[in-house]
Amino acid sequence: MHILLSKLLRECDQHALWIADENSKALLVTGIEFAGHLLSNRWDIVCTATAIGIPASFSDFDLASHETKFSRIVYPVSKEKAIVHHVINSAVETLEDSGELLLIGEKSSGIKTYAQKAALRLGSSKQLQKHGSDYLSIHRFNASAAGVPLDDSGYTSLRQPEILGGLWSKPGLFGWNKIDVGSALLADQLCAELPSDNTGALNIVDLGCGYGYLSARVAALASSPEQWRIQATDNNAAAIRACRDNFRALGINGSVTAGDAGSEIASDSADLLLCNPPFHQGFQVEGDLTERFLQQAARILRTDGKAYFVVNEFIPIPRKAAGLFRNVNLLAKEKGFCVYRLSEL
Ligand SMILES: C[S@@+](CC[C@H](N)C(=O)[O-])C[C@H]1O[C@@H](n2cnc3c(N)ncnc32)[C@H](O)[C@@H]1O
Repeated sequence: MHILLSKLLRECDQHALWIADENSKALLVTGIEFAGHLLSNRWDIVCTATAIGIPASFSDFDLASHETKFSRIVYPVSKEKAIVHHVINSAVETLEDSGELLLIGEKSSGIKTYAQKAALRLGSSKQLQKHGSDYLSIHRFNASAAGVPLDDSGYTSLRQPEILGGLWSKPGLFGWNKIDVGSALLADQLCAELPSDNTGALNIVDLGCGYGYLSARVAALASSPEQWRIQATDNNAAAIRACRDNFRALGINGSVTAGDAGSEIASDSADLLLCNPPFHQGFQVEGDLTERFLQQAARILRTDGKAYFVVNEFIPIPRKAAGLFRNVNLLAKEKGFCVYRLSEL
């Protein structure tokens, strides 16, 4: 995909918009020629683009917030159908009349179906080209023939899935309509782990917070909630939106910020850190993600602080955490997950 994508991006002028999710990261890291504007729901992608001089904005695929219209939108399709439908729908409001939407994807991405749907929505003909294992679908927007919006599962709206017991969430974030089994296991350990007199001040970090499940569970254990401050952080714009709503709804004392594995959080600032690190990034499994989260946890934690990590049981935390934490204790092993306590003292 990257050869085709870089060729298309090179041909763009400053009126083009590149919608980049995690699958575009590799291209930015190796360097790319692109004169337009990048939009991503990933904080690390926006930072990487900005660092190499590409103007970029961070949002939950909020194309409509751009004041100018674009002559071309280049979009390697995302994994999640609701996002793809939302972007195709938004292209109608964001493209100039006769502007182009370019969809790129491998056969397994559903590109052929998206090409048909985009043609109807944009009032364009269907033009699908094969480039090696990739497909490129080109749509010229015709406002007078535009069709009805695609079903995007109400992409922009927050909602309260019954299973989340009152927490807000939305499509576009990891496991948005379920409680992660590993996270539940980690949260179940916390009651026994917190100081028995838990009325004192505590700075807590929720690293890779998602919609804020771990923050909500730990906040529920506070005897004096005003004494505890929770800083939740995530790379994903949808997660930040949902988590902020949950902090507001639950009256959690703290903040929700965007960062790359907690890059924005001060060193030596946390007494307690909770983390269920991401495993998959885009279509690949990114091997070093767990290590990066462990390194950042070691940086953020105070010397007398404790970090709690939950991971799939086959991830060798004791080996990965060696040299970062003096003590690595297994607290629970259940349902394919392991919960570890990591500390220096
Ligand atoms: C396994 S989920 C856990 C979510 C949440 N803590 C829970 O327990 O439900 C991992 C989270 O890490 C986030 N994430 C992925 N890459 C990240 C990065 N580079 N920096 C910060 N967060 C990231 C994902 O968006 C996702 O919300």
